[in-house]
Amino acid sequence: MNYWHHPKVGEDIQGESPLERNLHPEACAQCHQQQFNAWKGSRHALAYSPGLVGQFFSMGHQAGNDCLVCHAPLDRQQYKTPKDLVNSLSLLKRYAKGFDAEGSLDDMPVSLPLRHAGVTCAVCHIRDGQRFGPPRKGTDIVGKLSGAAHGGFIASKGFEQANFCASCHQFPQSYAINGKPLENTLEEWKQSRFSREGVQCQSCHMPDRQHLFRGVHDVDMVRSGLGFDVQQGDGWVRLRMSSVYIGHAFPSYVTPKVNIKAKGLDKYGHEVQTWQWSLQRKVFYDGGWQEASDTRLMPGERRVFMANRLKEDVVQVLFQVDVIPDDFYKGVYENLLQDMQEGTSRTLIQRALKDAGKNDYRLYQVTVDRKK
Ligand code: HEC
Ligand code: HEC
Ligand code: HEC
Ligand code: HEC
Ligand code: HEC
Repeated sequence: MNYWHHPKVGEDIQGESPLERNLHPEACAQCHQQQFNAWKGSRHALAYSPGLVGQFFSMGHQAGNDCLVCHAPLDRQQYKTPKDLVNSLSLLKRYAKGFDAEGSLDDMPVSLPLRHAGVTCAVCHIRDGQRFGPPRKGTDIVGKLSGAAHGGFIASKGFEQANFCASCHQFPQSYAINGKPLENTLEEWKQSRFSREGVQCQSCHMPDRQHLFRGVHDVDMVRSGLGFDVQQGDGWVRLRMSSVYIGHAFPSYVTPKVNIKAKGLDKYGHEVQTWQWSLQRKVFYDGGWQEASDTRLMPGERRVFMANRLKEDVVQVLFQVDVIPDDFYKGVYENLLQDMQEGTSRTLIQRALKDAGKNDYRLYQVTVDRKK
């Protein structure tokens, strides 16, 4: 089965009760509360976002559907008519989330169309009316299994493998720019030691099957994958950054940017010297996509950032590492706003720009006293 080829949920949803046949994440939450509570804090739950949908009005609903292939891919999440899109714009303006955060079916402010729930439970778990999932914990029995609800489920080992994530997190090689597609996460993983050691995407992003999907927007997740240490010698101080537990490039996508800054401070705390570096795959569009540079940290790689030729009056060196998860999108939104008329789409893009700004954080900071 090519699980992702035609993600049709079908009309004949298995289950005795309306609750079992309800595809909204709040319905799943009634019986699978753990998964719901983890998923609702993930980017998957926000995939039908203002930054995405705010762009659709000018593109048209058909072109919008091409984007939904990853952001809300089920057949019944697609736009059937232009009106579906117009309705969606005003609903999205009123409701920031596409589901009730408490998982309550009664408190739902309005019955939002399923597309608002983005990469929701049914996207990964329902095909042709049936539930699919990994084999029950601690077993490796596959195939149709009976269960106390929704007519049981079909157990498949595909859920435990990296390939499961590929349709949305890997572009085909035919889209390559300088040999690498804009999204190349699965390939990067295949070339790393993690694929050889059997450490799947799920091992890191769904530990113990938790539906957290934490990534570059989560400071603790990013820290968990990196090592830092400092050294100094005659006239220099250096920061070493190692990618110890990241299964792909850091960062994997062209959209985040990591800034590393070193400041030489005198005894009054004044900045007398400055050094700057960044980790980013920088691309630009000029009739076609081009790569300007690629300074990302590869799995297992260790990079040295050297503050050297320190001036006499420098007594301390301060290193700061900052992450801007949505660096590229900020530029996209700013450009869009330049020639966008007043209206709902503009309001959504403005919100997206504001949200993107709130995602920046300091990953690491250290002060090194100079030994003379
Ligand atoms: C009325 C309660 C109920 C509702 C509602 C419900 N489920 Fe289930 N689900 C169950 C039960 C019971 C099982 C069987 C567990 C077992 O036998 O191991 C199950 C099993 C599953 C499995 C397989 C778990 C595994 O071990 O692989 C998946 C996946 C799943 N459900 C997804 C969903 C999704 C998605 C929704 C919402 C669209 C949903 N369920 C709604 C009760 C429910
Ligand atoms: C149906 C498409 C789809 C599938 C399948 C999918 N993802 Fe995603 N994923 C997305 C989209 C779209 C986003 C971005 C959501 C947003 O921010 O709008 C995302 C975001 C993420 C993020 C957060 C990235 C960040 O910027 O912090 C992680 C981590 C992630 N996915 C991991 C996984 C893993 C692991 C799997 C496989 C188990 C998987 N995804 C399967 C579509 C998918
Ligand atoms: C192959 C799957 C795929 C397709 C198709 C896709 N996206 Fe995404 N999109 C992602 C993933 C994965 C992320 C999160 C990682 C990243 O930032 O690249 C994302 C993130 C985004 C974000 C930033 C997060 C957010 O939701 O605000 C925007 C905006 C976005 N996509 C817009 C679009 C638009 C517009 C299209 C159609 C032209 C599109 N995407 C098509 C996979 C996809
Ligand atoms: C991006 C895809 C994706 C989404 C969205 C998703 N799941 Fe899952 N789910 C998985 C994968 C992959 C596994 C198996 C993980 C593993 O084996 O490490 C899984 C496992 C499960 C299991 C079995 C858990 C266990 O402990 O045995 C249940 C139940 C389940 N999911 C329900 C849900 C519910 C409910 C939602 C929505 C709130 C949801 N899933 C959203 C991909 C997804
Ligand atoms: C060894 C652990 C590990 C494995 C394996 C792994 N990741 Fe990650 N992933 C991380 C860590 C840590 C981060 C946060 C740092 C970063 O952004 O690279 C991350 C970040 C991400 C992000 C955020 C976007 C970005 O630009 O970095 C996405 C999406 C993602 N991973 C998807 C995947 C997919 C898909 C796979 C499997 C092909 C996978 N990951 C395998 C640890 C892992």
